[in-house]
Amino acid sequence: MVSKIALVGAGAVGSTLAFHLFSRLSFKEIAVVDIAAGLAKGVGLDIEDTRSFFNSSTKITGTDDFCAIANSDIVVVTAGIARKEGMSRQDLLKINAKVAKDVSLQIKKHAPQAIVIVVTNPVDLITCIFARETGFERGRVLGMGPSLDSARLLNLLHEACKISTSSLEAFTFGLHNNDMIVSSERMRAKGESINKFLNKEAIKKIQDKTSLRGGEIVSFLKNKSASFAPSVSVFRLIEAICEDKKEIIPVCALLQGEYGLSNLCVGVPCMISRKGIERVIEIELSEQEKEKLKKAVELVKEISNV
Ligand code: 2OP
Repeated sequence: MVSKIALVGAGAVGSTLAFHLFSRLSFKEIAVVDIAAGLAKGVGLDIEDTRSFFNSSTKITGTDDFCAIANSDIVVVTAGIARKEGMSRQDLLKINAKVAKDVSLQIKKHAPQAIVIVVTNPVDLITCIFARETGFERGRVLGMGPSLDSARLLNLLHEACKISTSSLEAFTFGLHNNDMIVSSERMRAKGESINKFLNKEAIKKIQDKTSLRGGEIVSFLKNKSASFAPSVSVFRLIEAICEDKKEIIPVCALLQGEYGLSNLCVGVPCMISRKGIERVIEIELSEQEKEKLKKAVELVKEISNV
């Protein structure tokens, strides 16, 4: 039973997620923590005022005091700076790596049994930092990146072939950046290959658009990044954990020999349950996918000594 969830970071993603959790699920407590004085407090009070609309009995607290995350079953980390126009997710690394180390210590101290869901970018590297700094077993640290990218891919496929997303199957894996792996072999509509519905040019356009979607949104929002799709992508992971769904969702995981890789975090299909990552799913990769994964791994190794 998941009774308490803590959200570290009360920015657009954290506050939107807090509202989803409060309005759609039931917990003993949701704790929202942010170092910005008053931000988490204001978000908590505002969401609490919606109680009567949902007949919710969930306690929600907003504070700048990390003690509030005590004994949480799940801790979601969105804290750190978000991308601004012209910035890559890698540009955030130096600042957000320090945030990740500080927050890891707080989680170890106050919520040593928690499952940690990392959103802070660059999420593949930041997830590595949480896995290393908390020392938690692999299944309890996961990064939300490819589940967001997969949602975007499904949306873009729907737009192109006007087929309900419930009849579409597609997912991305690899890194949550412009080099993410968006294979047409992984795209199906009505149980058949996507090639039956879209030509190669249309598929290529969708692959490119999916990879660049995060940056496209930042180019319109200017000084902040997406928040609705990221928060719902985290919500889906929390639901799978709370309901022990054993659902296959692509998340950033610390590999321990899977795909011939170890001690690095990269997006792969995983079975998500009350344990967090119950197991990593090893799909058969095409030669092209193997090459792309190898390139992604080189990038992670290159910049992960932070
Ligand atoms: C995105 O892709 C924020 O990384 C997130 O929009």
